Amino acid sequence: MIYPQWRQQLVRSLHVHRSKPEAKYFQAANVTSNGIPKVRTMVFRGFAENTSALLAVTDSRSEKVSEWRSSLKSELHWYFVKSREQYRILCDVTVVCQDNDEALEIVGEGYAQTKEMKQLYSQQWQHLSKRARSGFFCPPPKSAIDYQQNSEDEDAGQFSSDETTSEQTISQHFALLIFAPYQVDYLDLKTSPHTRILYSLRNQHWQSKSVNP
Ligand SMILES: Cc1cc2nc3c(=O)[nH]c(=O)nc-3n(C[C@H](O)[C@H](O)[C@H](O)COP(=O)(O)O)c2cc1C
Repeated sequence: MIYPQWRQQLVRSLHVHRSKPEAKYFQAANVTSNGIPKVRTMVFRGFAENTSALLAVTDSRSEKVSEWRSSLKSELHWYFVKSREQYRILCDVTVVCQDNDEALEIVGEGYAQTKEMKQLYSQQWQHLSKRARSGFFCPPPKSAIDYQQNSEDEDAGQFSSDETTSEQTISQHFALLIFAPYQVDYLDLKTSPHTRILYSLRNQHWQSKSVNP
């Protein structure tokens, strides 16, 4: 498998920063249907096997999921401190979650390999720590805090029960996000002048162009 040059560079940047857990955090932006820009930090969960698509997980009840349902585009942003490299990655987003009947729902067509989706979805759940898994059984993001209920739950040990941390029981709020890149803007600040390379996907082939920064 020959990967695009930007992906090879990104893998190298991650390798150079392997001792820095924060190097796995990128920012994912979107624009709401009202034209409001939104951005948040996410943990990079690796590439979908044999592809350049990036993976992240989230709560299907979060605002980002409903926003991406209406516009399946995102720009990812990543800055690597040691190597002084910036990546801005334009992507088609695919949301993989569960519908009301707990069947797998796939929103978006940016990532074509739908056959292995079920496997990818459960793999990502299994890779989560117990603590991360239990977060998906908590009240919805942005809902008001019910202090009374919280102390009752703590007494009952709710958020550490076997069900909430099991590898087998996938929370119905667990969502997998697949970011399929189609344009990458790479900037290297180490060189003088700075190196800027624009990559774009045309007819399934990546093209690159070095430009003035
Ligand atoms: C270091 C760090 C890592 C994060 N990783 C994730 C993540 O992987 N998935 C996620 O949904 N939110 C993650 N968050 C929280 C998001 O940045 C955001 O606050 C939350 O998901 C709500 O976003 P929304 O209101 O745009 O949906 C992370 C936050 C930080 C600071």
